[in-house]
Amino acid sequence: MTAVDDLPTPSILVREDRLEANLHTMQTACDQAGIDLRPHIKTHKLVPIARRQLELGAKGLTCAKLGEAEAMLASGVREIFLAHSLVDHRQANRIAALAEHLEELRLAVTSEAHLEVFQPLIRKVNRRFKVMLALDTGLDREGIRRDESAQRVASTIDADPLLELTGLYSHEGQFYGANHSQRVEDVERLLDRICGLRDAIDPTLEVWPGCSVSARAVVDVAAGRVQAVRPGAYVFGDLSLTQNANVMPWENVALQVLATVVDKPTPDLALIDAGSKTFSSDRTAQGISAIPADGRKLEVFKVNEEHGYVRGEDLGQVNVGDRILLVPAHVCTVVNLTDEVQLVGPENKIRSTWPVDARGKSQ
Ligand SMILES: Cc1ncc(COP(=O)(O)O)c(C=O)c1O
Repeated sequence: MTAVDDLPTPSILVREDRLEANLHTMQTACDQAGIDLRPHIKTHKLVPIARRQLELGAKGLTCAKLGEAEAMLASGVREIFLAHSLVDHRQANRIAALAEHLEELRLAVTSEAHLEVFQPLIRKVNRRFKVMLALDTGLDREGIRRDESAQRVASTIDADPLLELTGLYSHEGQFYGANHSQRVEDVERLLDRICGLRDAIDPTLEVWPGCSVSARAVVDVAAGRVQAVRPGAYVFGDLSLTQNANVMPWENVALQVLATVVDKPTPDLALIDAGSKTFSSDRTAQGISAIPADGRKLEVFKVNEEHGYVRGEDLGQVNVGDRILLVPAHVCTVVNLTDEVQLVGPENKIRSTWPVDARGKSQ
């Protein structure tokens, strides 16, 4: 059996025991609170992980793009929520075919402007869909900004025989950069906002917030107010969830990048063979692309396409030819850049090589 030591670099490793623990922990928390887990697959893009999430009790999957959802059908999923603003009439046949393969395909309505284009698209698809209305809760991306607008959208949907409004959803991406000591207060404000609007439109609507930073706090305090959460990054973790948001212990991070030190042009700079084509250009607020998993004081502070620039107090211990395990700043983009990930079991043995099924499925 291949071992981590035999792998070429850069390689993307997934620690099976940590992955399994992360999946269990989130599912158990949701089960105990009576809240459905509808994990976003944008992070892992892997059928075997989707299958495991469903086996453990996930009610359905969340995807951004049609291509991701099509790739996830192989997991046996029965319910998918496409949390994205669909507008393209060229996709009508694909939407119909996807719906045909599922018990439920829920779609998103993200603003009045979106609804104007979405309605003709759905007429072209010519099926009835449950829809969730996006509410902006501070990320300033998609989602209804004003309550009057939500009321108008709800009435328009109500009058459309092909659409059924079933709930409100939000994505609290702004929580990644928020003051974490106030998370419970922030989550309470978030729930007050969504539930207040829900009550004004129709108290029977479902409420689905979603983000790995807020998911556990939502689950802990929501008590009857929330029907589902849609975290994605919790399966692997990264610097955003551990160091920045402080919602995941370091030892739970399940995805690591294995890289090799290929040069040390000066005593205070090492170069590794993983750059922006491995880590993407996403960085932490401090400008860091990755740090070593073993706690050494080193950081990848700059990336070119095929090089990562490493500096830090412990650079004296680093030699050309060394292999380093790194935790990336943002895990979702790392997975989308690799053809396959290595599932690592006990004693650093490779248990499986998983092709990344929805890699690059952005259409
Ligand atoms: C609409 C939506 N839902 C859920 C998620 C999952 O959030 P996270 O990656 O923080 O777990 C995302 C992430 O971008 C998203 O855009």
